[in-house]
Amino acid sequence: MSLNRGWLYGGETVAGATQRDFDDGAFERVTIPHTNKVLPWHSFDDREYQFVSVYRRRLRLPAGTEGKRLFLDFDGVMTAATVFVNGQEVGKYLGGYTPFSFEVTEHFERDGENVVAVEVDSTERGDIPPFGGRIDYLTFGGIYRDVWLRVVPQTFVENVFAKPVDVLSDGRRLDVRVFLEGELTARHEVAVEVMDGEKMVARLGSLAALGMTGGAQGMTGGADVTGGADVTGGADVTGDGSSVANLSLPLPGAIRLWDLDTPELYRVVVTLLEGGQEVDRYETRIGFREAKFTELGFFLNGQRVKLRGLNRHQTYPYVGQAMPARVQRRDAEILKNELKCNVARTSHYPQSPHFLDACDELGLLVFEEIPGWQHIGDAAWKEIACRNVAEMIRRDWNHPSIMLWGVRINESKDDHDFYVRTNAIGHELDDSRQTGGVRFNYQSERLEDVFTMNDFQPHELREPNHPLYLNTEFAGHMFPTKHIDNVERVIEHVRRHAHVHNMLGSDDQYAGGIGWCAFDYNTHADFGSGDRICYHGVSDIFRIPKAAAGFYKSQCDPQEEVVLEPAFQWAIGDQSEGGGPRPLLICANCDRLKLYVGGELKAELEPDHERFGNLAHPPFFTDRLQGVWGAKWHDLRIDGYLNGELVVSRTLSGAGVDRQFHAEADDAQLVGDGSDATRVVFRVTDEHGNPRPFATGAVALLLEGPGEIVGENPFALAGGVGAIWVKTHEVEGGAGTIRLTARHPYLGERVVTIEVAPAEPELC
Ligand code: GAL
Repeated sequence: MSLNRGWLYGGETVAGATQRDFDDGAFERVTIPHTNKVLPWHSFDDREYQFVSVYRRRLRLPAGTEGKRLFLDFDGVMTAATVFVNGQEVGKYLGGYTPFSFEVTEHFERDGENVVAVEVDSTERGDIPPFGGRIDYLTFGGIYRDVWLRVVPQTFVENVFAKPVDVLSDGRRLDVRVFLEGELTARHEVAVEVMDGEKMVARLGSLAALGMTGGAQGMTGGADVTGGADVTGGADVTGDGSSVANLSLPLPGAIRLWDLDTPELYRVVVTLLEGGQEVDRYETRIGFREAKFTELGFFLNGQRVKLRGLNRHQTYPYVGQAMPARVQRRDAEILKNELKCNVARTSHYPQSPHFLDACDELGLLVFEEIPGWQHIGDAAWKEIACRNVAEMIRRDWNHPSIMLWGVRINESKDDHDFYVRTNAIGHELDDSRQTGGVRFNYQSERLEDVFTMNDFQPHELREPNHPLYLNTEFAGHMFPTKHIDNVERVIEHVRRHAHVHNMLGSDDQYAGGIGWCAFDYNTHADFGSGDRICYHGVSDIFRIPKAAAGFYKSQCDPQEEVVLEPAFQWAIGDQSEGGGPRPLLICANCDRLKLYVGGELKAELEPDHERFGNLAHPPFFTDRLQGVWGAKWHDLRIDGYLNGELVVSRTLSGAGVDRQFHAEADDAQLVGDGSDATRVVFRVTDEHGNPRPFATGAVALLLEGPGEIVGENPFALAGGVGAIWVKTHEVEGGAGTIRLTARHPYLGERVVTIEVAPAEPELC
């Protein structure tokens, strides 16, 4: 049961705030995900959120919990949490990026009111990864991921690893490990079903969970499951009172593979029965795919895929990481559908489960890694890091999108024993995925399966000579770029991303590259451009594309989308040497471009196969659009052709005037649960819809209806763009409508309307 609503929060803690009878009358009512401190989008001090706070929630157990075991599950609290029930401490957890759970069966009163209090330490504690050194990102604070009350029988299914094996052959099967907690008796049985939507594809059950007996039965829905039933009880891997049942379901029939274009998903339903009666049920989602790094690159389902992607931090303006499912999911949509990436790296920690769910659904591969950045701490710190490896894998092993586990602290020095251990944990828990360990030194000791390397050399890849090579970072701090940078810098930013992907395309032994990075992000004073931002993204901190985003986008097949993205703003004087702009770079997946200035054909261009021949769609360059200083400046029109046919045309205004103000929401409908949110993007453009990077203006906002603005009001445009998020209030009962009016000082007013559907009530 969701426990996200109805929390009380009082900011920096005061003595006694975890006690049952503490007077929390002055606390404010908040909904999880929650940030301990709302901040400006840049130029703030991280010490503002580094404090200890207390969250409190009252709850009465719903009917039907008698005789059941109760757990409080936290998906993510930054950075350390101590949980109290009715004033009594039930547990402590160190780590902000991994989930934790405490049994509260004995602490809860079954009839009366209970008070849960969570003391949240959001300081940068050197005893917890990633802290102890300096890190180039901010962690923020608060209970920023979902909270649950889990009600289970005395013996229950704690976790399930459903591992597809040999998916490309007729011998394919699903090996299912069922992790059981509690005492097992001869009356307990386990059954597994593989579901395609509502249709059962295969079933294995009911098998005695204890002992070695049992037989495959109940094959329905055309599934042909024979033999292979191998049920073992008593393997103790998770601690006292734990056991594992191993089941194997042959799947010789047709299975639809999970692939980049067709990310087919199946449900696995595990049932625990006692005396023939279902007592617990655990559902998870899987995809059948084979993902493998080889000496000849990366293969998905037997086909070579050149990996082209970007690193992602899960942080956002104003609220850090405390964004709800919809917003976390939106990043995956941007990476897959707008930036046309086939892979993302969750730098540098296990990311939101909602983001990973979206990657599964969209067909976006993921390289996930443990929390950390350059620094390795003492023995106790390493213990936590090792625990993090197991927690990451046990949380995420059923995501088909994840194709590699990162088991090294990003860019840390060699530490033989430590990394032998992290690799062993990875391999032991999941022998179906390879490990990687991100380094910045070619000489470092390689203990991982895949040589994952941050190579920031702008001009050449040093001869890797390391089989299974994946470049996990490039560009980044070597060339930060903002919307307002001049033409030359913006073009060079694009060229560098194109250049590295082109080099990685030169040899099959390179699996591909994951550039630094997708989105600008908040950071410490020791990094970034002086305003607590690393402007390393191909998109800005609001996820609004810069020119380099156009390069990634242009690598898709024109059948999917015809792309034509000029990597410049059209102006005569915004570069060195005058009389520009030249040379110009245009990203497009066309095979020919025609460029007209003031209606006159000035250039016909072909993709630069000579210098960028390893790319699916090399960029176009021209230096033939030179303007004459003092002469009249005209519009530029670019027509794009494919096989002789005009497929796209864009006109860039030469007028130098801000003409249009746009305000657009990502979503027209939200749920009134007090946390659902959507981004509203503001853009000033020319009369043809092209960016105006020097546009300014304070956008005045008025919100009416059941919601609030997450962001600044008025919002001052930077680089001609910006965004706020609109978050719902709790709406139970009738639906509502949010009306956001955004007024630019001289380009008029836009109204954004968002329907708010009532939320299901929380059960306690
Ligand atoms: C890398 C690091 C990233 C980021 C990047 C900036 O060394 O792994 O987290 O700091 O540099 O380019």
